[in-house]
Amino acid sequence: MITNQWYLICFEDELKKGQILKRKVIGEELVIFKTETGKVAVLQDRCCHRNVHLSLGYVKGEHIKCGYHGWEFGETGKCEHIPSLSPEEKIPKAACVKSYDVQVKHKAVWAYLGNPEKKAEAEIPPFNELDNWPMVYNYHVVKGNIKLVAESLFDSHHINHVHRNSIKTLMGNLHHEKPDYHLSFTDKSLTGWYLRDNENSVFEKVYFGFEDKVEAHFGFWFPHSSKLDLRFPAHFTMPARQMVIFEHFYEIDEDHVMMIQITTWHRIFEYNPWFAKWFMLKKSMTIVEEDIAFLESNKYWHNKEKLNDLLIRPDELTFEFTRLWNKNLKANAPETYQKQASEL
Ligand code: FES
Ligand SMILES: [Fe+2]
Repeated sequence: MITNQWYLICFEDELKKGQILKRKVIGEELVIFKTETGKVAVLQDRCCHRNVHLSLGYVKGEHIKCGYHGWEFGETGKCEHIPSLSPEEKIPKAACVKSYDVQVKHKAVWAYLGNPEKKAEAEIPPFNELDNWPMVYNYHVVKGNIKLVAESLFDSHHINHVHRNSIKTLMGNLHHEKPDYHLSFTDKSLTGWYLRDNENSVFEKVYFGFEDKVEAHFGFWFPHSSKLDLRFPAHFTMPARQMVIFEHFYEIDEDHVMMIQITTWHRIFEYNPWFAKWFMLKKSMTIVEEDIAFLESNKYWHNKEKLNDLLIRPDELTFEFTRLWNKNLKANAPETYQKQASEL
């Protein structure tokens, strides 16, 4: 498991005041709650009294109250009240649960799960488009390999095949010749762009444009975020439009990966925002379900026969991604790196 990272644990609009959510991220059981003054807190989902899930409780004022005997915990995880104690008795020092650092950014709640000494090195990925544009999101639990999940959003060659009935009609065919990916790297990320032919249906051309080419920008930020950013050029009276799909992913446990797909857009269907949300959610659900079938299929064969993939020259993005992934994995999670190396 890859610790020492900020993970997206929920979206702001999922968490109303006084509400509790429960998540499992890289093996950690979390309870997320919003206090009555609007503070967001993340604790281990375990009451230290009799070891039950705190998420079975409820919010009271600034505290989460265990549903079993009513012990109350604040955002730091310290127990602040035990109803069965008489006023002269003290709350024991050991009465506390693990708490996690939280940030609210890009309309989402992020928790830092890892060694506090490494926190300064961890970054929230640049999901900047979510700040001002409309968005839809959905969660999927996948029995897949995390590395393939990470790569799947920007694997340029799968789109015309896996998504032949969904995305292909939206963003057109990939060039048959070798695409120029215009790649750039940092220590923890890769970004790039290439041109796709725009062979949309007439209906979709009305919205997405009549230009021959669409720019497909993409990115990956180790270890948990990918981006596919489609830019439709301006045409006659139509301004330039953009659709950005983010994927945030993490291992829930050894066998399950969480994929959170977030779609945002700019100037598409802007006079009909309700239709836009309905359309984007429907498309995005279809797209991710199409991917999941292949992600699970790949894991099935890897597990069954410990097979290596047969990569060829046009899989060059995969080679670049794998180099970045392995370098970071070795530095951040050497045990996971060793395990992956022995599996493949
Ligand atoms: S188990 Fe939580 S208060 Fe007793
Ligand atoms: Fe896909």
